[in-house]
Amino acid sequence: MKILKVIGNQKLTGSIRISGAKNSAVALIPATLLASGKTTLCNIPNISDIEVLDQTLKYLNVKTNRASETMTIDTTNLKNMDIPIELSSKLRASYYFMAVLLARFKYVKMSFPGGCQIGSRPIDQTLKAFKLLGATIKEEDSVFTIEAKELIGNVIHLDMPSVGATINAILVATLAKGKTIIKNAAREPEISDLANLLNKMGANIKGFGTSEIEIHGVESLNPTNHDIIPDRIEAGTYTIIGALLGSYLKIDNIIPEHIKSLTDKLESMGANIEIKNDYLIIDSSNELHGLDIETSYYPGFPTDLQQPFATLLTQANGISNVVENIYENRFMNVPYLNKMGANIQVIENKKVIIEGPTKLIGCEVKATDLRAGASLLIASLIADGETIITDINHLLRGYEEIVEKLTNVGAKIEIKEI
Ligand code: EPU
Repeated sequence: MKILKVIGNQKLTGSIRISGAKNSAVALIPATLLASGKTTLCNIPNISDIEVLDQTLKYLNVKTNRASETMTIDTTNLKNMDIPIELSSKLRASYYFMAVLLARFKYVKMSFPGGCQIGSRPIDQTLKAFKLLGATIKEEDSVFTIEAKELIGNVIHLDMPSVGATINAILVATLAKGKTIIKNAAREPEISDLANLLNKMGANIKGFGTSEIEIHGVESLNPTNHDIIPDRIEAGTYTIIGALLGSYLKIDNIIPEHIKSLTDKLESMGANIEIKNDYLIIDSSNELHGLDIETSYYPGFPTDLQQPFATLLTQANGISNVVENIYENRFMNVPYLNKMGANIQVIENKKVIIEGPTKLIGCEVKATDLRAGASLLIASLIADGETIITDINHLLRGYEEIVEKLTNVGAKIEIKEI
């Protein structure tokens, strides 16, 4: 088992370069299967979720070649194979293969997708979109057999602006006959990144970035080259770290607009932050005041930064309220933060009340999911003494070279195999 050992309270200075977005890469890699031939994606983060997708591609007879942050995906000999639970259960994004195989072959068989255990995470909206586009679906023991004689455009009104359902609907509608309109679509930047890639491949997608997306189906797509956008959650995580420990810490390669909901909150708390075109500089010299946050869909405050931000609030003066509106189970970091000395009360798994500032003391804690891991890592960096974080595979799923990036700016952190 891998653990992280962290010695806290080191000032951080220098520059951290943000990698390509995990939640874009995990959608864009399957999307390349919509065309036959060789597509090159740049800024692929070197994280374990990508390894799993790579295994799935190989299983589907797709050739891949990875050099540094570039991945070439050759789909010429793509075979439609049933995707077993061992591959589908490792990450949520595995169900993007459902959409691309359905679009290409009109038939797909796959088990329920995996992902962090942060809530019930149903896939009803994706299945609804597939049905509206002409598919029939059979489910037996969480194995889905989805087929269609013909895929035909339709109006899809999502019950909530689900990122995954919007992506799956776009993927299928791109190769369906006629026009599809997705109403109440997700507006996250990763959706726009996908639509930009598909349009370069020859798709006709408009309105992405708004809550109504219009897709005119095309017969086929062509391979292309594409640069994945920077990871806004990784950028946000390091910005939070900078607000706590930064000595003019530079967070480089960002799209400031994508993290505006976070930087606005940091500014209201009193943080010293200078935002430029594609980087920001943050310093921990200012005293921080507590405030309230509530997670919501983009452009609101992202649920994926709620747990890291909660750690920051333990160091702010006064009472802060954090309301989680997206997932039912995203406070699993809290018992460990309290074990380290925080004063956080959970109200019905929906809200936490944080009283700060409290000194945190290093001890053994567990990364129960990816962003809980980030929350505890931040806590360990500000804690007195040594913290051991167990189950860090969750953390390594989403943050590229986290140890190297933090060590380079002065953190004392190492991975150990026990
Ligand atoms: N929902 C449904 N039915 C559906 C789909 C979603 O009820 O068919 C609900 C979910 O249960 C949840 C809400 O709608 O309460 C939002 O879910 P959404 O589908 O938007 O999330 P997702 O596509 O499964 C992606 C990211 C998550 C991120 C969310 C929200 C990927 C691979 N995952 O998940 O990222 O939290 O969007 O922004 O893109 C992470 O990176 O740590 C992570 C969990």
